[in-house]
Amino acid sequence: MLESRVPRRRRFLVCEPRHFAVQYAINPWMQPDTRVDVDLAQDQWQSLIRAYRSHGHAVDTVEPVPGLPDMVFAANCAVSVDGRIFGSLFHAPERRPESTHYETWFKASGFDVYRPESVCEGEGDLVPTGRYVLAGTGFRTTREAHREVQEFFGVPVISLTLVDPYFYHLDTALFVLDDDNIAYYPEAFSPGSREVLRRLYPEAVLATREDAMAFGLNSVSDGLHVFIAPGATALADQLALRGYVPVPVDLSELLKAGGGIKCCTQEIRS
Ligand code: ARG
Repeated sequence: MLESRVPRRRRFLVCEPRHFAVQYAINPWMQPDTRVDVDLAQDQWQSLIRAYRSHGHAVDTVEPVPGLPDMVFAANCAVSVDGRIFGSLFHAPERRPESTHYETWFKASGFDVYRPESVCEGEGDLVPTGRYVLAGTGFRTTREAHREVQEFFGVPVISLTLVDPYFYHLDTALFVLDDDNIAYYPEAFSPGSREVLRRLYPEAVLATREDAMAFGLNSVSDGLHVFIAPGATALADQLALRGYVPVPVDLSELLKAGGGIKCCTQEIRS
């Protein structure tokens, strides 16, 4: 039976790819000194922002900083639950300065920001659901940070181990569809973590490697519309069968840095 899906209006924080480049390689998608077309990256990114706004979502922007080519990936700067912001501490030294710039934006917008002691990359690895924070580790965010997140929010944190370097952040292998369900690519996880996800989400949408390599799990759902990479066709078909409405947005230029729709999107939950 097709359930009726109800979208919820979101508030997103994003950062224009004005200074986007691939200057270092910190994940397998990045080839150092790859030429990127900044104009194309900007056009593609603008189409994402237009898609969000035309579906009723609020979008705030952080001013991009020269010399921080990955700053467009706003998801990594923090994670929020009930208006409380848990900041970031990047694994790669090249990205560490980003945290302060985002912190400045949050403070100017009336939020306090908790500064983590352990390496953690915001919503890249920390994914709030209706009941938990699903938390990835293995490549970036540490288990120590998972403990810090649980202590800070008082929400149960479910630690999940990522095993495939192509899916180095949790948000490249899993996304939240609504308060009760998720979509994910099982092979990105250790056997035990796969079992945990199967127990917690028996009705989850399971994606293929092709969907995952097309960055289809790096999607944003508002509960009805799913902003998704156009190459993830099998996944989009499954979502449509379940009553979701896929909204394809192509960010191929940003994929040269291993980023996609969700990577570019910080959700402010208040
Ligand atoms: N080049 C960036 C990095 O490797 C991409 C980050 C993508 N962000 C994400 N939320 N998955 O750190």
